[in-house]
Amino acid sequence: MQNFNFYNPTQIIFGANRLSELDSHIDKGAKVMIVYGGGSAKKYGTVDRAIEALGGRKVIEFGGVEANPQFNTLMKAVALAKEEEVDFLLAIGGGSVMDGTKFISLAMHYEKEPEDLLFHGFSGPPAKKATALGCIVTLPATGSESNAGGVITYKDQKYPVMCPLTYPKFSFLDPELTQTLPREQIANGVADAFVHVIEQYLTYPVDAKVQDRMAEGILLTLIEDGPKTYSDSDNMEARKNFMWSATNALNGIIGVGVPQDWATHMIGHELTASYGIAHGRTLAVVLPYLLRERKDKKKAKLLQYAKRVWNISEGRDDEIINQAIDKTENFFNSLGINTKLSSYGIDEAGVDRVTANMEKMGLTALSETQDLGLDTVKRILKNAII
Ligand code: NZQ
Ligand code: ZN
Repeated sequence: MQNFNFYNPTQIIFGANRLSELDSHIDKGAKVMIVYGGGSAKKYGTVDRAIEALGGRKVIEFGGVEANPQFNTLMKAVALAKEEEVDFLLAIGGGSVMDGTKFISLAMHYEKEPEDLLFHGFSGPPAKKATALGCIVTLPATGSESNAGGVITYKDQKYPVMCPLTYPKFSFLDPELTQTLPREQIANGVADAFVHVIEQYLTYPVDAKVQDRMAEGILLTLIEDGPKTYSDSDNMEARKNFMWSATNALNGIIGVGVPQDWATHMIGHELTASYGIAHGRTLAVVLPYLLRERKDKKKAKLLQYAKRVWNISEGRDDEIINQAIDKTENFFNSLGINTKLSSYGIDEAGVDRVTANMEKMGLTALSETQDLGLDTVKRILKNAII
């Protein structure tokens, strides 16, 4: 196991009907800006319930953060928050709203042009201050509610923004708030959380037993309860387990001290940026083909994954690995996700467009060993067209 520091200050408030507790998590004198998306949080009453729970505090609202949040929209929120001298941001939504709110919290104080926040990759911008924020999660998927990352769209490209100042102070995880989600969004969320775990687990062994077994536990839970949540909106026990899985998949805990491979995400982000495909779906398309391409590099972990997650241990190594990858793809298909690029209208020319964009973004040396270049990305995507 490699050396690591672990820090995660977000308080999780898990369970149904606890929004009245908001009052005890935000300073009494705070002026709060509620940030929400295209309208679901308003329509289903969550914004109103939050306002009620905030009691006599001054509250303003900013709605309209789109899926894959846009820089220009967020800058309007920054202007409003500064004008109104807001001192707490409350995100109500999925990953897009939570990520957008993190960006607002940084951009309100950033000493350079706000665009500069986007250009520091995984090392993060040199921000010194951020407005405190909290989240009410309405879509389990990204783990944004308990991490320090966000992904912002600017001029048709997606940029990760990482900054420890943006860890939410608290996040409410109320599984009942997710019951209004269309089931395609549940499928996207299961796929996203699944791939978050895979990218921190399926690399090469470093004898990190706790991280490996936690990762396998989350994968097994997603395999067990993801489909139940997808097909039965009343199965609350499954929904609770799915929701907690998504948070644990990307709150940092399983990624400590292990190599990580975010190639599927980097390729997926380009598919979203160029073609507007929902984040979780892009990952479900890319992952099986990436694993087939990287079978040799990931052999030891693929065998462990096959055995411990899919219970496959009979046969030759390559047969075991092929079966595990096929099962992974079938799992995504069982959630109604098509894993062929052609079904999203993408052909060979489309693949070239995606890899050209990746080159522009400097995404040319991916994977846990930085040896996955654009030729390989091209092969992965062309194999995924079918
Ligand atoms: O905008 P509204 O009207 O609220 O509708 C949303 C949106 O259209 C809807 N929705 C959310 N909660 C709902 C609901 N509809 C009915 N009932 C509810 N309870 O769902 C749609 C999708 O929402 P979005 O927030 O875009 O989805 P998700 O949570 O999957 O977030 C995706 C974004 O997160 C980024 C992605 O790149 C993408 O921009 N990611 C963030 C990460 C992070 N911060 O750590 C990591 C991820 O890998 C990911 O890249
Ligand atoms: Zn993701």
